[in-house]
Amino acid sequence: MSAADGPDGGSAAAPSRQREHWGTRLGFVLAAAGSAVGLGNIWKFPYVTGENGGGAFLIIYLAIIGTLGISILLAELVIGRTAQKNPVGAFRQLGGTRWRVAGWMCVLGAFAILSFYTVIAGWTIAFAVKTASGRLTAPGADTEAIFESFVSDPVWPLLYAAIFMALTVAVVIGGIRRGIERVSLVLMPLLFLILIALVVRAVTLPGAMEGLLFFLAPDFSKVTGGTITAALGQAFFSLSIGMGAMITYGSYLERKAHIAGSAASVVGLDTLVAILAGLIVFPAVFAVGLRPEGGPGLVFVTLPAVFAAMPASAVFGTLFFLLLTIAALTSSISILEPAVAYFVDEHNLKRSRVTILCGVIAFALGIPSSFSLGIWSDYTLFGKGFLDIMDFLTANIMLPAGGFLIALFVGWVMGPRAIEALAPNTALGLWLARLWLYGLRFIAPAAIAWVLISGLI
Ligand code: TRP
Repeated sequence: MSAADGPDGGSAAAPSRQREHWGTRLGFVLAAAGSAVGLGNIWKFPYVTGENGGGAFLIIYLAIIGTLGISILLAELVIGRTAQKNPVGAFRQLGGTRWRVAGWMCVLGAFAILSFYTVIAGWTIAFAVKTASGRLTAPGADTEAIFESFVSDPVWPLLYAAIFMALTVAVVIGGIRRGIERVSLVLMPLLFLILIALVVRAVTLPGAMEGLLFFLAPDFSKVTGGTITAALGQAFFSLSIGMGAMITYGSYLERKAHIAGSAASVVGLDTLVAILAGLIVFPAVFAVGLRPEGGPGLVFVTLPAVFAAMPASAVFGTLFFLLLTIAALTSSISILEPAVAYFVDEHNLKRSRVTILCGVIAFALGIPSSFSLGIWSDYTLFGKGFLDIMDFLTANIMLPAGGFLIALFVGWVMGPRAIEALAPNTALGLWLARLWLYGLRFIAPAAIAWVLISGLI
C-alpha cells in the first residue's frame, strides 16, 4: 500500500502522520453516543412515533435497533478499527479499489445530511433565544405562527445555521482528543441532567397519563408497510449508521480496543434517550390537550405551548432547546468528521483548512433546504420541498443502502477476519460472533433490500 502514500513520501510509519486515538474508553463511548444521540432522538423520534401510531411503532423500532442496528454499528466499528482509515481509505484497503465507491457514497452522504441537519440545529439555537426572552411562552403567544414565520424567513434561519456550523467546525478543528472527545465528555453528562429534569417535570404534569398510554401502549391496527420503512430509516439515522460516521470514529480506536461492549453501550444510551424524549414530549402534549401528530413542528410548536402552561416556563423552555442544541452539536461533528478525515488521510491536506472548507460547502448546500420552507416553497417534487427530499433521500434511501453495502462487506469480504477482529478481546462468545457474521451475510442484506424496495413501491 505504500505506493499509495503520495508524492510527499509520508508513510504510515512517519511519526508526524501518526493517527490520533481516543484518550479513554469512556471518551470514545461518549463521543459515539454523542453522535448517535441527536435531533434524531429528541426532534424526529417523537414526531415519527406520533405519526405512526405510538406504542406499536416503538416496538418495531426497538426490534430493528436490537438486531440490524447493533449488528451494523458493530460492523462499522470493525471496519474502521481494522483499517485505521476514513471510509474511502478503509474500503479500499480492506476490499480493493472497487469498494472505494462505497466510501465515496459515505462522504457524499455526509455533506447531504450535514446540510439540512445544520438548518434544523440552527432553529434550536433560535428557539433557545426566543424562549429565554419570554416571547414564546408569553400568555396567548401563537407558537405555530411564530414557528412558521421564523422558518420561512429568508435570512434569520441561515444566520443561526451559520452560528451552529461555526461551532461544529470549531470542535472538529480541535481534532479527536482535544476537540470531539473533550466536548463530548462535558456535554453528554450535561445533556443527561437536563433530560432527567425535563422528564420529571413532564410525567408529573396533570393529565400526563394519557400521553404515556399513547406512547407505551401498542395499537397494531395503525401499523402499515410504511411504518416499517419509517422505523428502519429512523433506526439508521438515530444510530448514525450507514454513512461511515462510525467507521471514522472506529478508526480512532487502538487496534486492541474492545468494541462489542462499547457498541452495546452506544445502542443502549441512544435508545434510552429516545425513550426519555418520548416521556417528555407525549405527556406534555396530551397534558395541554394537543395532538401527537404534529409533524416536524412538534417540538417547536407544541412544546412551547406546553411550557407556557407551566410555572417557570421560560426556564424549562430554554433548558429544552439548549438540550436540543447540545445533542445536535455532538452529532453534527460526527457528520463532518468523515469528510474531513477523507481529505486529511487521502490527500494529506491540513485539518483546519479542510474543516473550514467542508463546513462552508455543507452550509451552502443547506441554503436551498432553508429556502424550501419560505421563498422557495413553490418548488416541489412529488409534493415534497427540498428539505423533505434531502431528509427522505438520506434517511430512508442512502443510509439503508449504505448499511446494505456495509453488511455485505463485513459478511463476505472481511468474513472470518471480522470475527478475529472481534474475538480475542471481547465478552461476546464465539457463537454470538458467528451469528453476527451470518446475520450480516444473509439476513441483514435481505431485510434491508426488502424494506427498501417495498418502501419505494
Ligand atoms: N444520529 C444523529 C441523530 O440522531 C444524526 C447523525 C449523526 C447521523 N451522525 C450521523 C445520521 C451519521 C446518519 C449518519 O440526530
